[in-house]
Amino acid sequence: MTALLEARDLTITVPGPHGPVTVVDRVTFAIEEGQVFGLAGESGSGKTMTALAVPRLLPPRSVIEGEIRFRGRDLVRMPGKRLGAVRGREIGMVFQDPNTSLHPMLPVGAILTAPLRRHFGMGRSAARQRAAEALDEVRIPDPEGSLARYPHQFSGGMRQRIAIASALICRPGLLIADEPTTALDVTVQAGVLRLLDRLRRESGLGVLMITHDLGVMSSIAEVLTIMYGGRIVESGPARTVIRRPRHPYTEGLLAALPATGGRRGGLTPIPGGPPMPTAGRVGCGFAPRCTHAVDSCRTETPELVAVGDGRVACPVRLDRTDREA
Ligand SMILES: Nc1ncnc2c1ncn2[C@@H]1O[C@H](COP(=O)(O)OP(=O)(O)OP(=O)(O)O)[C@@H](O)[C@H]1O
Ligand SMILES: [Mg+2]
Repeated sequence: MTALLEARDLTITVPGPHGPVTVVDRVTFAIEEGQVFGLAGESGSGKTMTALAVPRLLPPRSVIEGEIRFRGRDLVRMPGKRLGAVRGREIGMVFQDPNTSLHPMLPVGAILTAPLRRHFGMGRSAARQRAAEALDEVRIPDPEGSLARYPHQFSGGMRQRIAIASALICRPGLLIADEPTTALDVTVQAGVLRLLDRLRRESGLGVLMITHDLGVMSSIAEVLTIMYGGRIVESGPARTVIRRPRHPYTEGLLAALPATGGRRGGLTPIPGGPPMPTAGRVGCGFAPRCTHAVDSCRTETPELVAVGDGRVACPVRLDRTDREA
C-alpha cells in the first residue's frame, strides 16, 4: 500500500549571506491515511520548511531535492497548474501565523467560499451554507453572521480557528498544520483536536502536525518525529518516543518540559544552542551539546537506523542499548 504522503531524502537549500544554506537535510518519512504525524524540535530545526516543501510554498529561490509523493504522485516535479488543483483541495494548510493565511481585505465568507467555488464549482448559496457549517465546526459563534465580518474583527484565537476551518473546508486528504493550536486556550484547543481526531477516524484524514507542545502530541499524534538542525534524529510511535526517548536530544527536550521533566525532578534546560545551518555539515548536529558524544560524532554524520518500531540517529546510544538488551 502506498502511504498518503512520503518524503524521501528531502533536502532544502536556501540562499544565505555567505552562500547556500541547507535547512533540511535528507529527511525521510511517511504519513499514512488516518494518521496524525507529529513533528517537533527546537526553533530553527527545519519543521516549517519541511511542511512548506510539501505544497511547494517555500520562500523564493529555495531548492528542493529528493522526493515528496502524495497519493503516489510526485509533488516536487508536478506542473504548477496540477499542483494548484491539489493545494487547498487535497492538501489543506494551516500556517504558523494565522494572520498570513487569511486575506485581511476579504470578508470571512469570501475566504471560505472561494475554494469551494473554485474546486467544486459550488453555487454561491450552497458554498455559504457549507462555509457557515465549517465555522460552526470550529466553534465560531454566530457562523452565518460571521461570514460578513473581516479577519481583523476576530480575536487571534478565532482567526486561527477560521484558518483551520478554511484548511478543512474542501475535506482534504492531508492537513498540514504548523502550530495550529498554540494560540488557542485549552478548551478551544481540545475542541480543535477532537475535530481533527473525528475527521481522522471518519474520513481517513492524515495530519502533518507541528507543535512544541508534546502534551498535545501525546494526546493526538500516532507517530512523533523529532528534528534537530535540519535532520530527523528520532522517530517512532509517539508514546514510545515520549516514554522511552532514545536520542540524547529527545531526552534533553523531554527533560526541559514542564509536563514530563517536572515529574523527574525539576526542569533541565539543554546547555548551548542549536547549530547554525550550513551546507555540507558533517557529524551529528547535537554533538557539541551532548554528554554522550565521542570523537566520531563530530566527524561522521549518524544515519537514521531502524530500532524496534522506530528510527534513531545515534550510534553511541544504540551501542549502549544493544548491550543492555
Ligand atoms: N524565508 C526564509 N528564508 C531563508 N531562510 C529561512 C526562511 N525561513 C526560515 N529560514 C531558515 O531555515 C531554518 C529552518 O527554519 P524553520 O522555519 O523551518 O524552523 P522551525 O523548526 O519551523 O522553527 P520554529 O519552531 O521557530 O517555527 C532556520 O535556520 C531559518 O533561519
Ligand atoms: Mg516553524
